[in-house]
Amino acid sequence: MASSRPSSDLEKRIVQAADIVTVALDELLPRSDGPETRLTEAMRYAALGPGKRLRPFFALETGKMFDLPERPVLRAACALECIHAYSLVHDDLPAMDDDDVRRGRPTVHKQYDEATAILAGDALQTAAFEIMAHPDTHDDGHVRSELVRKLAIASGAKGMAGGQMIDILGVRDDLGAVARMQRLKTGALIAFAFEIPLIIARAKESERAALMAFAQDLGLAYQIVDDILDAEGDPETMGKATGGKDAAMGKANYVTLLGLDAAKERVALLADQTRSHLEIFGERAGHLRESVDFVLDRRN
Ligand code: IPE
Ligand code: IPE
Ligand code: MG
Ligand code: MG
Ligand code: MG
Repeated sequence: MASSRPSSDLEKRIVQAADIVTVALDELLPRSDGPETRLTEAMRYAALGPGKRLRPFFALETGKMFDLPERPVLRAACALECIHAYSLVHDDLPAMDDDDVRRGRPTVHKQYDEATAILAGDALQTAAFEIMAHPDTHDDGHVRSELVRKLAIASGAKGMAGGQMIDILGVRDDLGAVARMQRLKTGALIAFAFEIPLIIARAKESERAALMAFAQDLGLAYQIVDDILDAEGDPETMGKATGGKDAAMGKANYVTLLGLDAAKERVALLADQTRSHLEIFGERAGHLRESVDFVLDRRN
């Protein structure tokens, strides 16, 4: 995979961002003392558990690149993380990937029950839009509505949910179709992380085009690495089932179609392509360039 390990500076920035996001999410997510407490607890269990918070990190880093104030980017990034958490809760359900372990702990339907997991996913999804649409996210209603609209597209039938449908239906022997599925189910939400600062900064078209191309390739690379780690990752480090679970379930992905070595070659090629999109930003994109290494070298 990538040539160098991520710098410790990068690791520090990721951990710092994750802490900021977890504190903000803790404040933003609902609490309750009525009988619906089971739902709010399950939402918090799903969203506040030990995930990498990588999508919010990408949004915050890119916000810094555009010299944006932190608050709007952070709130929008928390909304995105709620959608991500919901996608994982539903992805793990028996009707989907049927997984028992997530982030090193029982999945939500194991810790609670299936009905609670479905509702927790539903309510995390609507919490995302409540956070995004709140006036505290941005003074300008046009900016807020664009953030809401683009998050809806990235999450729905033309994004994550559409990709999940294709994943469940299965794709046979067609790498192009697999790439499209990956770009939808994983790439769309990762790309939205970079779109948050573009929308808030009202970035010019050349910057938007370059950064979205970067984000889309990064998102695809992220899912291929996930598929590689499913085949050869350590379940303890990953905090979820590995050992070729995707292959055993008959899932089509780069590893099951091409084999591990060829999948790794694809990732290396994609990495060069990904970095090349950042050229127009020059030195300003130094941190984003480093984050490509993190995505490729990750072990969890
Ligand atoms: C897991 O996402 C699902 C994929 C899209 C590959 P992450 O690898 O970002 O999981 P967490 O949030 O760190 O648990
Ligand atoms: C899921 O991909 C992507 C989502 C939209 C949740 P996977 O099913 O491979 O994710 P993991 O391996 O369970 O985290
Ligand atoms: Mg899945
Ligand atoms: Mg899964
Ligand atoms: Mg996986």
